[in-house]
Amino acid sequence: MSLKGKILLILLCLAVTAIFYKSSNKKGRRSMPFFFHSTITQDNVLSPGNGIFFIETTDRMDPPSLVLCAVESAARINPDRPVAFFMKGLPDINSVEDQNRALDSFPTLAPYNNIYLFPLRMDILLKDTPLLPWYQQVNPEKEVHWAHVSSDASRLALMYKYGGLYMDTDIISLRPVPVENFLVAESNQLSSNGVFGFNSHRDFTWTCMEDFVKNYNGAIWGHQGPALFTRVLRQFYCDIPPFKGDEDLKCGNVSFLNPRRFYPIECRFWMRFFEVWKAFPTFVDSYALHLFNYANRGERRVMVPGSNTLVEHLYVQNCPATYEAVLEKRSTHLTNVP
Ligand SMILES: *[C@@H]1O[C@H](CO)[C@@H](O)[C@H](O)[C@H]1NC(C)=O
Repeated sequence: MSLKGKILLILLCLAVTAIFYKSSNKKGRRSMPFFFHSTITQDNVLSPGNGIFFIETTDRMDPPSLVLCAVESAARINPDRPVAFFMKGLPDINSVEDQNRALDSFPTLAPYNNIYLFPLRMDILLKDTPLLPWYQQVNPEKEVHWAHVSSDASRLALMYKYGGLYMDTDIISLRPVPVENFLVAESNQLSSNGVFGFNSHRDFTWTCMEDFVKNYNGAIWGHQGPALFTRVLRQFYCDIPPFKGDEDLKCGNVSFLNPRRFYPIECRFWMRFFEVWKAFPTFVDSYALHLFNYANRGERRVMVPGSNTLVEHLYVQNCPATYEAVLEKRSTHLTNVP
């Protein structure tokens, strides 16, 4: 395969999530120990700068179990950090009551008191960033990769404004991420944008937003995402050297993490997550695992309880509430919660 072909394949694999599932029923409850006042906005939850962000850019309100597992595993392993799941389909959330009502619809997430749901409102989120003029002009109906491109834009604005950690909804967290101001290599010399972390108001995220608009091309998959991160890193930070082994790199003042931290299983081997292993790997060098939902979009492989596959093992260990709901065939999204 040519280098271009390889890069294209890797870019395709640097996934974001896609598509649908099912719904119905009732229950769920939680207290809000950190907020005694009754207003609860994304500003007061995320302004400490330690938030973990997940984004759903479609109107889908009944996420597949992998999305719920991603959010749950992050909340479970980082009990001291707020985990904010932004969903386009949510109504406005301003009070504790609004927050509880939204959470009650997701019985596997509701037990975690560090999970917050917020509506994704790009017109507000992109305000005071270089992205707003682009957003005001773009026509989502004409965009071929709108779910991805709008997610690429939203994660940059969130990172710039609040600081924290962004993760795609097909990443299962294993342990806390101990670094700040970092990008992750999916392979040698190529940055992912599926997971990254910065303090608020950092030059990297601002430069990315400027380049996003200046060199916008919504027709090329990944151009606004991994390719954007890679080109900004190259242009302004360092001539990205190859990895020699398991080490992380420093690129100017940005850490460039080894693929092993999040991509110990390469994209082309994504099926291995859905296979039975003789002995399950422990992933001691990894903070989280990217499951390549985008590569999986054709086959739509899911976690099947009792299959003894690697993915089942990962659910049991890292998102037990999601696992049990799937095992007991309980609905993970309730409608008509009073
Ligand atoms: C990081 O490096 C960039 C590019 O050299 C520089 O403009 C920026 O001020 C630095 N940021 C911090 C927080 O050190």
